[in-house]
Amino acid sequence: MEEEPTKLRERLARYERESRFLLKDSDQRKVIEEVFDTSTLISLQGLMKKGIISEMYGAVRSGKEAKVFYATAPDGSPRAVKIYLTVTAEFRKRYPYISGDPRFAKLPPSSRETIYLWVRKEFKNMQLASSKGIRVPKPYSFSKNIIVMEFIGNPPEPAPTFAETEVDLEDFKWVVGTLKRLYREARLVHADLSEYNIFKFGGERVLFDFGSAVVTSHPNAENFLRRDVENMVRFFRRRGVVNLSADDIMKEVVG
Ligand SMILES: Nc1ncnc2c1ncn2[C@@H]1O[C@H](COP(=O)(O)OP(=O)(O)O)[C@@H](O)[C@H]1O
Ligand SMILES: [Mg+2]
Repeated sequence: MEEEPTKLRERLARYERESRFLLKDSDQRKVIEEVFDTSTLISLQGLMKKGIISEMYGAVRSGKEAKVFYATAPDGSPRAVKIYLTVTAEFRKRYPYISGDPRFAKLPPSSRETIYLWVRKEFKNMQLASSKGIRVPKPYSFSKNIIVMEFIGNPPEPAPTFAETEVDLEDFKWVVGTLKRLYREARLVHADLSEYNIFKFGGERVLFDFGSAVVTSHPNAENFLRRDVENMVRFFRRRGVVNLSADDIMKEVVG
């Protein structure tokens, strides 16, 4: 028998309460209402029915526009479930990363549709990068405003990002090499690159948060790439690792 949305909602609310990442009470209630609208619950149920996930646990991070949950697959292996809030009104600011990408020629009419498209784009970007051997969380599935991917970290604790850990010259070289492969092989520009969107965990670095990424034929691709490179150069300079200019790295990446 299928679980009723209300029952599922109660279960999810319980996972939230039991999670060790609780927000303040009133905030928490608000977030639950925002995230678990009926349509999101139905999508989650669909993913459970398809055997993509079997249990949902607490939220590991709550951003303004998306919440990431720790979940498990039927075989018990950990998954990260990124759920975009469908009530976020600020989706227009995502248009510059959608229009101009030939894969998404027509702009969606509503903010909900924009989110669905954003999720599809994020998932496709991850698949593409992954298919070229670039280390990203393995993308498993998506539905409406939800993406299911490999969990990076010791569940329920996500791996530290570059911002939260020590970095060295090898990390910088990895970033340049990864940008190069992303650009030349996957033909993608991340477009939201920062020390907050790269994990460092168990001897590995993992690039994530691919929603903004655009194809290199996007009219603004080079500007986005330059901004990505500047962010990285600034970060590694601040950490005293390298002292290079963005120009040097742009040449290296684009060729
Ligand atoms: N695959 C993952 N495994 C573990 N934690 C994750 C994963 N993806 C995201 N997270 C956690 O959620 C946070 C936000 O994810 P991110 O994709 O960067 O969303 P946003 O668009 O809100 O920046 C990350 O900083 C990390 O703590
Ligand atoms: Mg992010």
